[in-house]
Amino acid sequence: MKNRTKIAPSILSADFSKLKDEIKSIEPYCDLLHVDVMDGHFVPNITIGPCVVKSIRKISKLEFDVHLMISEPEKYIESFAKAGADIITVHSEVKYPLLKLIKEIKKYGKKAGVSMNPDTEIDSIMPYIKDLDLILVMSVFPGFGGQKFMPEVLEKVKMLANARNINRTKNLLIEIDGGINEKTAKLAVKAGVDILVAGSYIFRSDNREKAIESLKKAQ
Ligand code: DX5
Ligand code: ZN
Repeated sequence: MKNRTKIAPSILSADFSKLKDEIKSIEPYCDLLHVDVMDGHFVPNITIGPCVVKSIRKISKLEFDVHLMISEPEKYIESFAKAGADIITVHSEVKYPLLKLIKEIKKYGKKAGVSMNPDTEIDSIMPYIKDLDLILVMSVFPGFGGQKFMPEVLEKVKMLANARNINRTKNLLIEIDGGINEKTAKLAVKAGVDILVAGSYIFRSDNREKAIESLKKAQ
């Protein structure tokens, strides 16, 4: 039987003036903490650096799922690994060779993920499927929370789920990020997703526990 879908709230939609309280408000209910790192170059927005990861590492035991939306991840993997990331995900669209990035992440004993934008084909990732712990399918163009889910990316999720069976990489996790709510979560889980990232749906809800439970139930 398939394991229960895991939930990764994205702190991008949290109130940064009280980040500890925000994390504590979701911690008992979720599985991972999704940390969106943006450099103002790969995406038009700037967010969190290793020093924030280091600070929140002290107050949470959740698995930190660090999503690097940055053009030169090769320069920062070490800092994020040492700051306390558990999973480090780089984008397949960056210039630096993917296999080298994956090896660099693993060198620090971390789980390696690769992400792809909505208009990136899975071919760019397929050669590394056996080297990866996680594939992150973007269901919006990265940069901002609160955008609308793009259902066309579900085809890629289905193809990846098939490829996982064929390659016998059953520990490989498929994650989706962008526009996830109670409705879109169902579509994603049906297509084969294991981890749902959700920012605004959880942090803008009046009842965060209930919002997370509704995602866990999505089938
Ligand atoms: C988008 C980020 C997402 C974002 C998701 O660039 O990678 O993790 O926080 O936010 P929602 O769930 O609001 O679309
Ligand atoms: Zn993200």
